[in-house]
Amino acid sequence: KDWNGIDEVVVLRNPKGASVRVSLHGGQVMSWRNDRGEELLFTSSKAMIFKSPKAKAMRGGISVCFPQFGKCGSLEQHGFARNRVWAIDHNPPPPPNPNPNDSTSLGKSFIDLILKPAQEDRPHGFELRLRVSLALDGNLTLISRIRNIKNAKPFSFSFAYHTHLSVSDISEVRIEGLETLDYLDNLCQGERFTEQGDAITFESEVDRVYLSSSQCVAVLDHEKKRTYIMRKQGLPDVVVWNPWEKKSRLMTDFGDEEYKQMLCVDGAAIEKSITLKPGEEWTGRMELAAVPSSFCCDN
Ligand code: BG6
Repeated sequence: KDWNGIDEVVVLRNPKGASVRVSLHGGQVMSWRNDRGEELLFTSSKAMIFKSPKAKAMRGGISVCFPQFGKCGSLEQHGFARNRVWAIDHNPPPPPNPNPNDSTSLGKSFIDLILKPAQEDRPHGFELRLRVSLALDGNLTLISRIRNIKNAKPFSFSFAYHTHLSVSDISEVRIEGLETLDYLDNLCQGERFTEQGDAITFESEVDRVYLSSSQCVAVLDHEKKRTYIMRKQGLPDVVVWNPWEKKSRLMTDFGDEEYKQMLCVDGAAIEKSITLKPGEEWTGRMELAAVPSSFCCDN
């Protein structure tokens, strides 16, 4: 039980001392620490930690946005999955096309969670499975499998792993791997622009969906001499968000100055929604590594 005695929190550890905390509330990853005990994910000091089963997602960590991203749809912002209480899946079915080189469970510490629809949910016929795993090298992997159960109607959805990275100083951070891509700018009513070819740096509010990126994106934190590597499959888009000063002041669960220590980089499927016919399954995988020096994606 967590400190409110309401939601269960699962702690994964590897033999070197790295750890991951996952809450059944939202299936949210609340913490990811390396073997030196350093926290790699941002959580706001003002975050409201799940005070009731109906509480909203905590501000920070990694939350699952499903079946909607943002406000584009009839549901609450980023969909309902992050606001629900999930269950532990004790007996998940094997993946449809197992990859012999995929060591998702080998030598790893992992937990399988499942979210099934409530009576009123639309779409109704889904099963959402999430495996969170911590590898021996400290890498964190999230694999979501969404199934349209037999005899249900076809449905479409968007998806994102809303990932709050902890950074030393946003002005010293740059993202590589999104250069020259088209993006939708949420600050300009979703208008489409093309990135001009340089690594992305930050000096004001950013809220963009980069489209059809390669599988690897790197976030370089110059001051901390740390690089986050994101590798993804089934998630063509990348959301980049920092609220900067003015918007930070408007968020009740976010400190006024905390935008300096946070950068959201989300592996996502947004521009082209995913459609599943009855019996079909989709997989979205995101792996995060935090390495001590600068790194270039081999895209
Ligand atoms: C980002 C969106 O991913 O999440 C932003 O692109 C949004 O538009 C931000 O403001 C925070 O959303 P929320 O619902 O977690 O406050």
